[in-house]
Amino acid sequence: MNGIAVNEKNHLVFAGADVTELAKEFGTPLYVMDEGRIRENMRLYRRSIEKFYGGKGLVCYASKAFSCKEIYRIAKEEGIGADAVSAGELYTAIQAGFDPVNICYHGNNKTDRELAYLLESGVGRIVADAYDELDRLDELAGKMGKKPGILLRLCPGVEAHTHEFIRTGGIDSKFGFAIELGDAMKAVRLALSKPNLQLRGIHCHIGSQIFDSDPFEHTAEIMLHFLDEVRKETGVLLPELNLGGGFGIRYTEEDTPKPYDGYMEQVSRKVGQVCAELEMEQPFILLEPGRSIVGEAGITLYEIGSIKEIPGIRTYVAVDGGMTDNIRPVLYGAKYDFLLANKMNLPPARKVTVAGRCCESGDVLGKDILLPECGRGDLLAVLSTGAYHYSMASNYNRVPRPAVVMVRDGQARLAVRRESLEDLARNDI
Ligand SMILES: Cc1ncc(COP(=O)(O)O)c(C=O)c1O
Repeated sequence: MNGIAVNEKNHLVFAGADVTELAKEFGTPLYVMDEGRIRENMRLYRRSIEKFYGGKGLVCYASKAFSCKEIYRIAKEEGIGADAVSAGELYTAIQAGFDPVNICYHGNNKTDRELAYLLESGVGRIVADAYDELDRLDELAGKMGKKPGILLRLCPGVEAHTHEFIRTGGIDSKFGFAIELGDAMKAVRLALSKPNLQLRGIHCHIGSQIFDSDPFEHTAEIMLHFLDEVRKETGVLLPELNLGGGFGIRYTEEDTPKPYDGYMEQVSRKVGQVCAELEMEQPFILLEPGRSIVGEAGITLYEIGSIKEIPGIRTYVAVDGGMTDNIRPVLYGAKYDFLLANKMNLPPARKVTVAGRCCESGDVLGKDILLPECGRGDLLAVLSTGAYHYSMASNYNRVPRPAVVMVRDGQARLAVRRESLEDLARNDI
């Protein structure tokens, strides 16, 4: 994994920092983010649009993957947009000085209050997800004297090879208007009829942790043919196509991601070819990568506590975090690489089950993990935890959420403070 090394003390070094020092300074559990890697990934996507598509597009970092003020500041500095899905993400971005014009806002059930907030804030693109949302948004925009840019979320019907729970592009989805069922065209007609909405284009997102470019190419083709149909039926050529995110990353050696700019290279070629066939101007393209920007740029550090051996059955190695800071093993059966970060010279000794500290038997971070001999006080690192970890963290069992540190060239700074016990009880009456 990039950004990982071992120093002369046999300590794990991440983003240039000795992680045992980070654990000492900031405590555990601790999310550690490699800022250089995040910036590189953002640049790679931005440049891929410049290099392969003449710059006619925008990368919108899908901030559900990891949202805090610092990440919006970084995205702004790197000249990319963001995708937001809640008032909380939008508020955080605005607080960080992020320009809402560069935000693409999603949601399958936006409340009136949320829509009013989007209009007030001047969000650049609202991705409409239901007929009644178009009605409500149009009415509200009229009252507020606004004319927001909108995209329509469509289901292109592509089934990407990924985990069932995170597959969203098919017809049986709570998101969007299905092309095959005629809903998409109906939504286009409705949106075009609304005096206070500016229909800019269409959006789709076919799933997550996808390694193959073919589903993206195939989706682009379907979406372009739909734009052509819209042009024929309504006389309007919608100028924007948002292809969502979903590019896969490496969690373990079973995962084989390709360089992230490869997606844009292949998709650009396809878009060029299909648009030429359809004699259609190439659309402005938006991409929404989340996981691939921050996922491998993050690790989590835990201190090992009690160890329970059940002879002939299993050894449990318990850490001071668990499902509250990493719900993915429970949610998706997600797998990770683990490192004994303070004793990187020790050889693997035995298979153990890494258990969390929550009152749930299922609170397990990894089963049959090959670790060196270890004991209380040792430091365990879990790799590729930058995406959908901090953002999915909870206070189950009233466990405070860990701190997040950003490390750049070996220098660490706090991005999110560790929650205190007072924080946990702050809203209780
Ligand atoms: C609409 C939309 N865009 C982008 C993303 C980001 O996907 P990923 O983090 O896999 O790149 C998601 C993830 O669920 C999504 O729903």
